[in-house]
Amino acid sequence: MEKDLLDLSTLTDKEIIGIIDLANQIKKNPEAYNTKLKGRTLLMIFEKPSLRTRVSFETGMTQLGGHGIYYDIATSPMGKKESIADTAATASRYVDIIMARLFSHDHIRELASNASCPVINALTDHTHPCQILADLQTIREKKGKLKGLKLAYVGNSNNNVTHSLLYGCALVGMHISVASPEGPNYEPQLAVVTKAKLLAEKFKTGSKIVLTNDVATAVKNTDVVYTDSWMSYHIPEKEKESRIKVFMPYQVNQELMDKAKDDAIFMNCLPAIRGMEQTAEVIDGPQSVVFDEAENRLHVQKALMLKLLKAE
Ligand code: CP
Ligand code: NVA
Repeated sequence: MEKDLLDLSTLTDKEIIGIIDLANQIKKNPEAYNTKLKGRTLLMIFEKPSLRTRVSFETGMTQLGGHGIYYDIATSPMGKKESIADTAATASRYVDIIMARLFSHDHIRELASNASCPVINALTDHTHPCQILADLQTIREKKGKLKGLKLAYVGNSNNNVTHSLLYGCALVGMHISVASPEGPNYEPQLAVVTKAKLLAEKFKTGSKIVLTNDVATAVKNTDVVYTDSWMSYHIPEKEKESRIKVFMPYQVNQELMDKAKDDAIFMNCLPAIRGMEQTAEVIDGPQSVVFDEAENRLHVQKALMLKLLKAE
């Protein structure tokens, strides 16, 4: 594995499955891992809000015998009085591993290239790899496999979660259909789609990628229906009304779920708003696995830290 995890696209097909396998072992027998990171420290840098990422990383580090430091960018000189490079170089003298949730993907690249310890992307404007590791673990738990399954992602698609889903599905051999409104603001970035297709070819995983504006086609016969917030953390509140108009035809409601397979599961990385990207009936209904996804953040990130620190 490379020093850092900034994008799933830097993993191999075997590495991604290896992380999920280890996450399952940790989930089954957490006590066996509770001193693996004894004396080690994780620095957690946050430039945006969080519930799941913050609490699961900090709890995970505690459960592995180490310590997590929450570091809010608002109370940091980084980006103001101190460069990202100097922050990375200094923090590397204290801690063993860093995770960062930053607005800009370029900034996390800069942080990683100037840190001597591993750096984990905990969400940028471009990708959200930790989320998709947890999602793949969840899908495999529910469906017993990954390869050959079909996932439909519906809604706001020029975003971090969609991009990481494209890489993740390509690597594990899942087919992915992305249904979004038309236009570059809403569709996944072409460079990501191209790279995901190349990954599928490179590892011969058989994953097929389809982009469409037709939500019913995307969802037909699918095993997984996935959606994400229409109001990502960086979107200004003043855009809310216009975005609701654009995305409402892509809302996941029961009628749409009924077009998927009978045993299809519903996923959302959370936070979610009932009545926006999905109805309450769907997210609170029997097909929803949203809290399993949230739980698996804990297990999969513990696995990821052990792999990056070579402390399995
Ligand atoms: N899914 C996710 O990353 O949630 P938080 O924003 O609460 O960390
Ligand atoms: N796309 C969302 C994911 C939140 C976990 C955002 O960037 O806010």
